[in-house]
Amino acid sequence: MLVARELTKEFQSGSHQLTVLRDVSFAVPQGAFVAIVGPSGSGKTTLLGLLAGLDTPSRGTVILDGVDLGSLSEDQRAKLRGEKVGFIFQSFQLIPTLTALENVQVPLELRGESGASGRAVELLTRVGLRDRMDHFPSQLSGGEQQRVAIARAFSNRPRILFADEPTGNLDANTGARIVELIEELNRESGTSVVLVTHDLTLAGRAGRMVRLADGVVVEDTGDGRRDVAGDGRRETGDVEPSAGHSRGVERPAVSPSPVSRLPSPGRSLPDNEEVA
Ligand SMILES: Nc1ncnc2c1ncn2[C@@H]1O[C@H](COP(=O)(O)OP(=O)(O)O)[C@@H](O)[C@H]1O
Ligand SMILES: [Mg+2]
Repeated sequence: MLVARELTKEFQSGSHQLTVLRDVSFAVPQGAFVAIVGPSGSGKTTLLGLLAGLDTPSRGTVILDGVDLGSLSEDQRAKLRGEKVGFIFQSFQLIPTLTALENVQVPLELRGESGASGRAVELLTRVGLRDRMDHFPSQLSGGEQQRVAIARAFSNRPRILFADEPTGNLDANTGARIVELIEELNRESGTSVVLVTHDLTLAGRAGRMVRLADGVVVEDTGDGRRDVAGDGRRETGDVEPSAGHSRGVERPAVSPSPVSRLPSPGRSLPDNEEVA
């Protein structure tokens, strides 16, 4: 379960303040597939950065699986991302000097997982790239590169996957196949998906659409707002009964560990700062 409660993000631009997001609230039940739509500049990328713990809000709260991200240090957030979050970008963000296999395998090794190679092969097979594993990104089509990025994003078995316009650099057919693949993995793995897209047809594949305009939620086809309007002490409200675990916001923060200094899947990649 991911809960965003009254998220506001302001940027200081010279002498004046720019409010990019204002009081954005919604909840994503575990396993849901939510599309975020809205015109360019409406705050979609900024919102994903906050939800994924890559960036911090000016006001408001993000609670991921009962953990208030605002209560964590930067290292603790990095650790949480490494454990629970996957990220896919419009521009794929593969490492050009590594093969497809290495692009998936290396982050697994950095996390100290045993059997990284076998797991990477399994993931690439799952996304239909078993015969392309030894290719470098430049030798792959856009759709194939995005499949590698998807395999990498799923490598830590994330609780939640964020995808920022993952089809933006792909033709319509390839884009539709990529969203289908994300949808399949969402169903198979129980990973929640928050997908930003301009394409309303693709957004229609999601169970729910949240529409942003000028940093405000102007439409939410789901029912996710009633559970965040409460007194601030309940995480899930009455949207979904918590299956045997009560995860209040008062749960202690994740304790720091050496792992927290390892790059998260997103952070280990070049140029990912554009997310924030
Ligand atoms: N680091 C920043 N500093 C100042 N303004 C920013 C920063 N990041 C984003 N913005 C502004 O916030 C607004 C929303 O940007 P963004 O979240 O990238 O929108 P979208 O992804 O919907 O196109 C834009 O006006 C953008 O210029
Ligand atoms: Mg954007």
